[in-house]
Amino acid sequence: MANRAEKKEILCIVGARPNFTKIAPIIAAIKSKGKYLSPYLLHTGQHYDEAMKASFFKQLGIPEPDVDLGVGSGSHAVQTAEVMKKFEPVLDDRKPAAVLVVGDVNSTIACALVAAKKGVPVIHVESGLRSYDRGMPEEINRVLTDQISDLLFTTERSAHDNLQKEGIQSERVVFVGNVMIDTLMKNVENAISMEQTLAEAKVKESFDAGFGLITMHRPSNVDDKVVLTSLINTLAKLSEQLPMIFPAHPRTKGFIEKFGLLDKIDKSNITLLPPLGYLHLLGFMKNAKVVLTDSGGIQEETTALGVPCITLRENTERPITIAEGTNTIVGSDPDKITSAFDDIMSTGGKAGCVPEFWDGKAAERIVEYLENWVK
Ligand code: UD1
Repeated sequence: MANRAEKKEILCIVGARPNFTKIAPIIAAIKSKGKYLSPYLLHTGQHYDEAMKASFFKQLGIPEPDVDLGVGSGSHAVQTAEVMKKFEPVLDDRKPAAVLVVGDVNSTIACALVAAKKGVPVIHVESGLRSYDRGMPEEINRVLTDQISDLLFTTERSAHDNLQKEGIQSERVVFVGNVMIDTLMKNVENAISMEQTLAEAKVKESFDAGFGLITMHRPSNVDDKVVLTSLINTLAKLSEQLPMIFPAHPRTKGFIEKFGLLDKIDKSNITLLPPLGYLHLLGFMKNAKVVLTDSGGIQEETTALGVPCITLRENTERPITIAEGTNTIVGSDPDKITSAFDDIMSTGGKAGCVPEFWDGKAAERIVEYLENWVK
């Protein structure tokens, strides 16, 4: 075993909620399997609330970050620029062997860009996913991060075709599977019971007869009054057939209040909850009859759990969840949402299967590869 001084540092970046579930197994695998590697964890501070950050670190056993840039919220330009400004001196100081970024949030592109311009190798986990919708900020982050990454790990094989079309050499691209599913498999048995979460939130209703789970936070769904009103009206109507639980992202809660939709929700069978920790949400997700969501990660988690998923978006960058999993794309059209919902209520939804390499070992494959790659 190499001693610590001989180990090469991998500077791992997290910023927002969906990053935490991806970095947890990578840090754990570097620590347990990395003979020649050691992790250094940097949190940009893009997400900072107890519910959006701290509870994830605790529940997923992620060590406290070695450094927190504390950038907080802002416009895309401000947030990205703040991360870049504050990241540069840390990178200069640490001189890591490589910078590892995950997913597609603003912190991902910001840190990748700083590292690439300084000649520090960039590793991107969850590369090559494309919605082909440049209206999504995440799509821009994905395309740019992939272009400047030296090593690209993918979760599904369709990603390789996308990267090839963009001129990225196949030697830089490695199919390893889905690290987020590593986290899901490790934690599914430890999910916090629905009863406990509902009691903590002082909710009296029982959901024993079945329920649907709603999550929504995409700007295209929640920032526009007409779209959000139509979605809430449709979901309120569906809740007459099946009660719904709706943990709302701070952004979504803000717009629900701003557009005067709280009363509509109060009068429906939708139970609004604050954002939930990972194990809390998992307790609902694994027991839901259907999940209605605009999240990328939840499309994948429901596929891995075999739970029917209705995606409230016009497209997905994760097509394997449609081709092989339990996912159906409907956008925000009330008729399409209702028809997909009715189908799931009457047939139980698509059977689906768990995609290749979504087997709980993706992070181990990454570390195994990195041991030889990092010189
Ligand atoms: C970000 C990601 C998105 C991801 C989502 C998961 C980008 C471009 N978007 O979107 O891909 O799916 O995280 O949640 O990076 N806020 C709080 N507390 C927090 C963090 C945010 O109240 O701890 C509120 C603030 O009002 C903030 C708003 O949420 O302005 C949006 O946060 P931001 O990080 O800008 O984007 P998200 O919508 O969370």
